[in-house]
Parts: sequence; C-alpha cells; structure tokens
Amino acid sequence: MKPSRQRFQDFRRKVRQGLLQGDRLREPDPRSGESAGGAHHSVPSHDKHVFKFTKRRLLEEYRLMLRGYYGSVATLILVVVVSSLAALVSPFILKLLIDYVFHGKPLPVVWLLPHGGLRHWLTVSAVHGLAFLALALAAAEAISVAASWARLLAIQRLNYRLAATLRQRLHAHLATLPLGQLAEYRTGGIISRIMSDTDQVVGGVQNAIVNPTAAAFRIACILVILIATSWKLFLIAAALIPPVIVIHLLVFRRLRPLWRNIQDDRSMLSARVSDMFAGIRVVRGFRRERSEGREFGARQLTMVRKQYYTSVLGRLLMTGWSIFVPMIGIAIVWFGGQMVLAKKLTVGDLVMFETYALMLLGPITQMIDSMQNLQQNLGALDRVCDVLGQPPDMPDRTGAVALGPRKVRGDIELRDIRFGYRPEQIVLDRLNLRVPAGSTLAVVGPSGGGKTTLVNLIARFYDVSGGAILLDGVDIRDIRLQDYRRLFAMVLQDVYLFDGTVRDNIAFGRRHATAEGIQEAAKKAYAHEFIMAMEKGYDTPIGERGAKLSGGEKQRIAIARAILADPHILVLDEATSSLDTQSERLIQRSLEELMHNRTTIAIAHRLSTIMKAHLIVVLVDGRIQERGTHEELLSRRGMYHAMFTQQAQRRRAPALDLMEWEKAVK
Ligand SMILES: Nc1ncnc2c1ncn2[C@@H]1O[C@H](COP(=O)(O)OP(=O)(O)OP(=O)(O)O)[C@@H](O)[C@H]1O
Ligand SMILES: [Mg+2]
Repeated sequence: MKPSRQRFQDFRRKVRQGLLQGDRLREPDPRSGESAGGAHHSVPSHDKHVFKFTKRRLLEEYRLMLRGYYGSVATLILVVVVSSLAALVSPFILKLLIDYVFHGKPLPVVWLLPHGGLRHWLTVSAVHGLAFLALALAAAEAISVAASWARLLAIQRLNYRLAATLRQRLHAHLATLPLGQLAEYRTGGIISRIMSDTDQVVGGVQNAIVNPTAAAFRIACILVILIATSWKLFLIAAALIPPVIVIHLLVFRRLRPLWRNIQDDRSMLSARVSDMFAGIRVVRGFRRERSEGREFGARQLTMVRKQYYTSVLGRLLMTGWSIFVPMIGIAIVWFGGQMVLAKKLTVGDLVMFETYALMLLGPITQMIDSMQNLQQNLGALDRVCDVLGQPPDMPDRTGAVALGPRKVRGDIELRDIRFGYRPEQIVLDRLNLRVPAGSTLAVVGPSGGGKTTLVNLIARFYDVSGGAILLDGVDIRDIRLQDYRRLFAMVLQDVYLFDGTVRDNIAFGRRHATAEGIQEAAKKAYAHEFIMAMEKGYDTPIGERGAKLSGGEKQRIAIARAILADPHILVLDEATSSLDTQSERLIQRSLEELMHNRTTIAIAHRLSTIMKAHLIVVLVDGRIQERGTHEELLSRRGMYHAMFTQQAQRRRAPALDLMEWEKAVK
C-alpha cells in the first residue's frame, strides 16, 4: 500500500492537472458498462470520476423528489421571507431615530395614522416617538425569533420526511439489483449510500431552494433600499462586489469533484470497517489487528489531508471576503461622509446605508455557501441516482404468467443450459437434466465443479446465458419471478441467520407461522433441544451473522426454516455438511420425510444423503460426467464408484474435499 502522503500527492497532482475535473458534466456513456468493469473496487473509483448525470438532470430529480411536498416548501419559503423582512427593520428604525426623533421632528409614520389618539400622542413628545420605535423594534425582533424558529422546524420536518422516503426508495431498489452488481458495491458502499448519502441529498433542498430564495429576497430588498437612499453611494459600494464573486467562482468550480472524491473515500473506509468486523475472527486468528488498524489509519490520514486541502481551498474564498468587507465599509464612510457634509445625505441615511450595505454581505455569503454545499449535495444525489438508475435484476417479461402454487407440479427441466458469471468464463456448459415432479436429484462433484451455480440458476438468482430452464414445461423466465421463488425453500451452503431471535429466523420463510408450527419444525430439524437449552429458548437473540451458534446449530436452524416453509421445491446445498455423523443420521429421517414426494435438488458430499436419490449426477468442471441411480453408478465403476469406495473404507462418511476427489478421480 502506498503511504498516505504519496496518495495525497497523487490526489493533488490530479487536482492540478484537472484529472478530477468532474465539472464537465456528461450523460453516462452507454459503452462503458458500469457493472462489467473492474470487479475489484468496492466503491466506484474516484479517479477521473465524472458526474454521471448533468446538473440539470440532478436538479430535476430534486423537483421530482419534492412532488407532494410543494405545500411544505411554500410554507417554508413564506416563513423565510417573513423572517428576512423582520431582520431588515432595525436599521430603518435607527434612521428614524436619528433623523426624526433626535431632531424633534414628528415621525413620518404619523401621517399614515388616522387623526386622534395615537397620532396625537406620538406628536406630543419626542420620548413618545422613542417609545414607539422601541416597541416597533421589539415587535420586529419577536417576529424574527418566531419565524426563525418556525423555519428550523419546517426544514427539519421536510428533511426527515424526504430522507426517509428516499431511503425507502434506495432500499427497495437495491434489493432488486443483480447479485453481481451488489457484490460490487459491497456492504459498506450500500450502507453509506442508504444512510449518509440520503442525508446529504436532502440537505440540497435547503441549499438549492430555500436558502437561495431567502437570500435573493433579502438581497433584492436591501438593494432597493440602498438605491432609494442614494444611488451614487450605491454605485461606489457595488463596485467592490464583483471582484469577490469572480475570485469565488474560480475557486469553487474546482471543489465539487474533490468533495465527491472524499465521499468515495468515506464509503471505502466504512466498507473496510464493516468487512473487518464481519471477519474479525479471521483478523484475530491471523493477528492482523494491528496491520488492519495501521492501514485504516493511513487511509483515514489521506482522507483527512484531502478534506483539509479542500476546506483550505474553500476558505480561500472567505479570505477574499474578509479583505473586501472592510474596504466597502471604509468607502461608504469616506464618500457618504462627504455627502453628509455637503448636506446631500442625512446622518440617519448614512448610518442606515452603512448598516444595510454590510447586511448585504450576509445573504451573499449565504448564497455562495449554499452553492458550495449544494455541490456536495449534488455529489451525493449523483451517487444515489447512479444506484436508482441501475436496471433491476431480471424484470418480468411482458406477459410473464402468474403462477398459482396449487397448479404447480414441480417438474424441472434443464435444457441445454450454458452459464458463466462473466461472459469469458463458462461455468456450466450444455447441461441437460430432468427432475420429474416429486423426485430427488443429487448432485455430487469436486469443489468448484458448478454445483452451487446450478442451484443458483434453478432458483433464478441468475439467468442462464444459453438454453432454458423449464418448470412444468414453461420457461421460468416467462413466470413472474415472485411467484416462481415462492415455490422454493433452500438451505444454502453458507447459512445466513439474521440479527433477530431464533424464532424469527425459523419463521423467515413463513411469517405468520404459529409457535407450535415453529417448534414442530425445529423438532424435525433436531434443533429443539439446543434451542431450549439456550437462556431464552426460542426468543434468544442471535448475534449478527449468528456468531453465537455453532456451524451445525446454524445449519439445523436453516433446515427448520425450510421444513416450516413447506415448499414445492426443496434445495439443499450441503445442508448437513457441518453436522456430525450422529446428528446427520437423525436429521436424515426428517429430511427424507421432507423430500418425500417433493421435487428436491440436493447437493451433498456425503453418501447417506445421496444414496436414495432418484437420480445422481456427477458434475465436474461444469459438465455432467456420470448420471444414474446409486446402483447404476456403482456398477459402472467410474468416478462415483471411486468416491463411494473411498468413503466406505473410511466408514466415517467424511466430507470429501478437492484433494480427495482428485485422488479418487485419478
Ligand atoms: N458469484 C460468482 N462470481 C464469479 N464466479 C463465481 C461465483 N460463484 C462461483 N463462481 C465460480 O464458478 C465456479 C463454480 O462454483 P460453484 O460455487 O458452483 O462450485 P461448487 O461446485 O458449488 O463448489 P463447492 O463444492 O466448493 O461448493 C467456480 O470456479 C467459482 O470460482
Ligand atoms: Mg457450492
């Protein structure tokens, strides 16, 4: 791994050479097949990253997101306008104080009032005028406080709801993406997209709509007042503003790609963390804690450097401001002071002008800040849209048939199928197989031969690239996927238990199962006893990934899950591989009962599971080398025979591994 400093230098070189230029926006290039490329990087690589979507497209996305929230946005803008107006009152009151009250003149507002009480009261004494203005100021402040409070609440309410909706959409969409694609995002990438990117995205509503509207409104009001007070003085003050904006634009045009780059780093880091803790026992077992920690630290350091670099770049702009702001004030005092001396401007006007001119900087910086922040928001939205734009896995063909489970017989046929996870690597080649309804197919073969792949295809986790799989004579691609999958229950090679109770995990395939049903299934899977031995029985929480259970216990829970699901088609991929011979023999009876009259595809290394199958195939390197019943295969004296005699000699029915197979095959 490169040291952090070097990686940071690379980053700066790219920034300087414009290699990170994400600002030349473009539509996605259809040829660059996003998902096909590099299987290695977990998170989309940031090198030379280009925004996938145009800015306009992303802003349009915001509009779509806000559909249904127009009322909230309108309220928000109204509140913002009111609070802006309230904030503008005080300099004007100051002017009235200086030019009227202190000079003993009646306030100009007097002429707006009807004759009588208040009007009379105001003109009697200057102190009354002062009191009136103080009250007006207090009212303005009260409105301002109330409005900014309402603004905060309204924004948060909107943001939380938008974020939740967006998260839901992402969650739902990610669940439909092809497995290959998901493997490329990896867990960390997915988590950061669902959790932090969505928060970033909704922040954009404020930065794209609310803040600019508020700022623009305030700027407009102030400009009107300034020009009305003295347009000459205004021209002098205004001359100093353009240079600041120019400096700013130059700097921050380069910031967006940098922020995106940092975002990528962040998700890469969180992917690493989740990876490390998922495999913490391997890490400890190989004493890699320290080196993992060092690497984490180094990558973090690179990120910190980048973050710092980027904020320095951003802050340069602010420095520009801090130089120009006093200059504006000084210019106003100098030129405006001369005008006051020449009696062309009142003292109150000068004071008011100076205050408003400086108040102008607030909304201008706010506008620039929101634009700058919006770049980050757009970066996050770009990533989110990238995910949402990925086509879902195997959308149903038009005219895909619905499948009532009652009508299914469960006859599976593989007709000349070919498949590879990647086009250039064929895993299964021209496979023909038929599993008549209610019968059991056993698949055996050396590791890597394609057994799990076969199961993946039959369960339609992937689609075949040639040939077809038929259920009761219908191409499974012509059946609605949801209906098709409903027919299955599987005990997969890598058992996965969710972070919930034992009960939840058994009932995963049948959500409305009764407590008795769950117990019944667990008993058949010989899981009841060890479950009852746990402190809370069926309500014992399983740690993440079932870390608190042994391999065999996990497998028995998975088997109970399948038994409870009572499926049309049963898939067992090494379902009993982690069990000792004794428990296996016990479960075998339940499994046989389960398999009875049910289409079953069982992958097994152990003979006991295989012997009674109606058909056994030996799958080697994606091809069927032998097929037949146990007796037929034995009498053929081929590979199956070799495997059988080896296992029979051992009398322990051990799991065969690749080495043993190769020995057996030769
Ligand atoms: N998700 C995947 N992406 C790419 N290649 C894969 C994927 N899963 C499996 N393969 C490859 O496909 C081939 C067949 O793998 P498969 O898992 O089907 O073997 P298997 O017969 O189930 O082996 P085992 O007995 O060890 O479980 C292997 O060469 C493997 O590397
Ligand atoms: Mg396998």
